[in-house]
Amino acid sequence: MRPRTAVIPVAGLGTRFLPATKAMPKEMLTVVDKPLIQYAVEEALAAGIERIIFVTGRGKEMLADHFDYVPELEGALRDRKREGMLQQIRALVPTPGCLLFTRQNEPLGLGHAVWCARHLVGNVPFAVLLPDDLVWPGAGEPPVMQQMCDQFEQLQQSMVAIMTVAQKETDKYGILDPAEQAGGTDRLVRAKGLVEKPAPHNAPSRLAIIGRYILAPEIFDLLGQKKTGAGGEVQLTDAMALLMRQHPIYGFRFQGTRFDCGDKVGFQMANLALAMEQKEMRERLLPFLGEQLAFWTAENKGT
Ligand code: UTP
Repeated sequence: MRPRTAVIPVAGLGTRFLPATKAMPKEMLTVVDKPLIQYAVEEALAAGIERIIFVTGRGKEMLADHFDYVPELEGALRDRKREGMLQQIRALVPTPGCLLFTRQNEPLGLGHAVWCARHLVGNVPFAVLLPDDLVWPGAGEPPVMQQMCDQFEQLQQSMVAIMTVAQKETDKYGILDPAEQAGGTDRLVRAKGLVEKPAPHNAPSRLAIIGRYILAPEIFDLLGQKKTGAGGEVQLTDAMALLMRQHPIYGFRFQGTRFDCGDKVGFQMANLALAMEQKEMRERLLPFLGEQLAFWTAENKGT
């Protein structure tokens, strides 16, 4: 069995990106020519997900509009014979009934946002994708949620995507305490504990959880206890640590590069890396980057 339902929480305030996110949802920030939310939805659909639940909040209506038809725009593109772009715009609209919406009335944390989707998910394993974590798959690899769903088909256990971070960075992530290697492959690591944002000297490992999960529905009862953790928020990692008493949880070392697009530097890196994937952009960017590099390493070194 593969997960057929995904939850995409989009109710956060995006304070690290102010003032850009004052009136515009963080998830509409654009990497090259697509908003973050579109990367997440495309990744979910590529993995075989059939129902996508947005947990939205006030001021996030634009996210739903992005996946709807825009007759005036389509008419204009048709008149101007821009068939290619017209097809792209229309392909953005998922099969009717596939996108579902619920609201988190207050941004009480990621765990609380996921809990808000409980009635729409029901009693089945489900995926969670955080759109501000953009994960670009390695060359020839499928998108990361597809990699995870393929593993889930074999394993039938909850799992989180993990990557190794620097020791000094552990206090920015949920960190996995590894129990053992599993399944004859080092891509899966069974967890014996999960800790949200541990200080570097207390971190059980450098295996950081990133924003891709497949979870058993029992997580909803644990999230429903609404215990607050790091930052005074209801943390998904804390509920997963409790879920581990009932069900195993595995870390999954994905193939690909993760960009933290909720952070200004990570967002710039994503734009640069994805622009370089396109030959026309690369040819114009490379000389510019060469100039920048020469300027900042020579003349202004240390400033
Ligand atoms: P973040 O913590 O990165 O998002 O949550 P944020 O709170 O919007 O950002 P900052 O730290 O203030 O800049 C990761 C994901 O979880 C969602 C966010 O929308 C984002 O997609 N989220 C977070 C919620 O839906 N509700 C919450 O209460 C918190």
